[in-house]
Amino acid sequence: MVLHVLHELMRRDLQTAAQNHEQPAVGKVWEYEQSSLQMNNISKWRSPRSLEPLPLPLVEGESSSDGLQRRCPLRVNSWNSSKRPLHRGASPSRPSRETTCQNVSNFYFVFLKRLSMLRALMPLTHTRELFAKALKGKYALGAFNVNNMELLQAIIEACEEEKAPVMLQISKGARQYANPVYLKKLIEAAVSLSTIPIAVHLDHGDTFELCKECIDEGFTSVMIDASHEPFEKNVEITKKVVDYAHKHNCVVESELGHLVGAQFDEGEEGGAHSTSGHYTEPNEAVQFVQETGCDSLAVAIGNSHGAYKFKGTQHLDLERLKLIKKALMDAGLGDYPLVLHGASSVPKDLAEEINKYGGKLGTDTAGVPEADIEVARRTGCTKVNIDTDLRLAMTAAIRKVFFENPKEFDPRKYVGPARLKVKELVRHKIKNVLCSAGHAFD
Ligand code: G3H
Ligand code: 13P
Ligand code: ZN
Repeated sequence: MVLHVLHELMRRDLQTAAQNHEQPAVGKVWEYEQSSLQMNNISKWRSPRSLEPLPLPLVEGESSSDGLQRRCPLRVNSWNSSKRPLHRGASPSRPSRETTCQNVSNFYFVFLKRLSMLRALMPLTHTRELFAKALKGKYALGAFNVNNMELLQAIIEACEEEKAPVMLQISKGARQYANPVYLKKLIEAAVSLSTIPIAVHLDHGDTFELCKECIDEGFTSVMIDASHEPFEKNVEITKKVVDYAHKHNCVVESELGHLVGAQFDEGEEGGAHSTSGHYTEPNEAVQFVQETGCDSLAVAIGNSHGAYKFKGTQHLDLERLKLIKKALMDAGLGDYPLVLHGASSVPKDLAEEINKYGGKLGTDTAGVPEADIEVARRTGCTKVNIDTDLRLAMTAAIRKVFFENPKEFDPRKYVGPARLKVKELVRHKIKNVLCSAGHAFD
């Protein structure tokens, strides 16, 4: 209830600021807190590679053995709802919080700072909570891949405006491209400046070590993808991740079957991964969930990644999806959350636009029709993964600028329109396909 009111206050603040073309007061507070953080030199970040615990957070009012004033715990900048602080640095040279607060005389400012502090205690929403609400509300969570600032801004702005809860996914490739610390700081900024529930998820974690790294960094969920392994090995690897994740208040998505797409379908007989070839077999799904204890399952029903998903009349095996859902229900696993990977629709107009402005996509681009996503959503795909469509939207917008104005060399003039195009695409998905719009504050 309290959080509801706080959310509403912040939402109005953001709205008023947007109408007046100003920075929101919450944003000012955030800026203030960031400069205060810099002053206090406590924005220290754990190296993603070195996971040894940093000194415990300092508590206001207590004195340490070295006589230092301890840090106010409210500003412990954890993004994990486990309340396990992630920023744990303390600098001997920083001024006390009192000194910092003396600079703040305006009551409104202090009040909003408090709101922001409260929010800092619970910056991310747990994937578990988002799933529970999505299952109850019969909508699907958009899980959008983040690789840079503009993609993140586009996703968050669309979801904020449409009041949709959202899952931000980070792949191994995204971490390699952007650096985990940059991604985390960008997401922290997005969380500070928005009011919607946001979860952070590792997409296609391929090793226990990578999953552990993300769990330790505070991700609210991770995917362990050992689907290329035979069934028993997949169970073994997944179970190891689940055991670690559950001890650290994180949930796990796993995958059974093989996301090779319909074009490589070997039918009911082939493949070592499932008795249904590359596809997920309903009874195996039950056994897999029971043996691993994973919290959600990515299914292989003819779906695949990228812009060339189907040939001719191929399509998703939605009947199989219904059977998987039913088998899990019949086995007493309840309304078990399923995940649809490769859910981009690869809109024809985007592919055409890319080619019109100099691109060379094949004529055989094909995605999952939105009508099929709709059925998947109703059947119980609670999380729907979209990356390729964002890439296409961004590429189309950038190509257009360069085609129409080859002299342009200000990145803001082409990445800016790309951000806008991605935002409109995300808006369309959450409003018209996933139906998560309007559910942020359920
Ligand atoms: O599943 C694949 C996602 O689109 C992430 O792709 O590994 O190139 O970041 P990526
Ligand atoms: P698309 O390639 O269809 O966008 O799928 C993305 C995905 O599944 C990320 O895990
Ligand atoms: Zn995927």
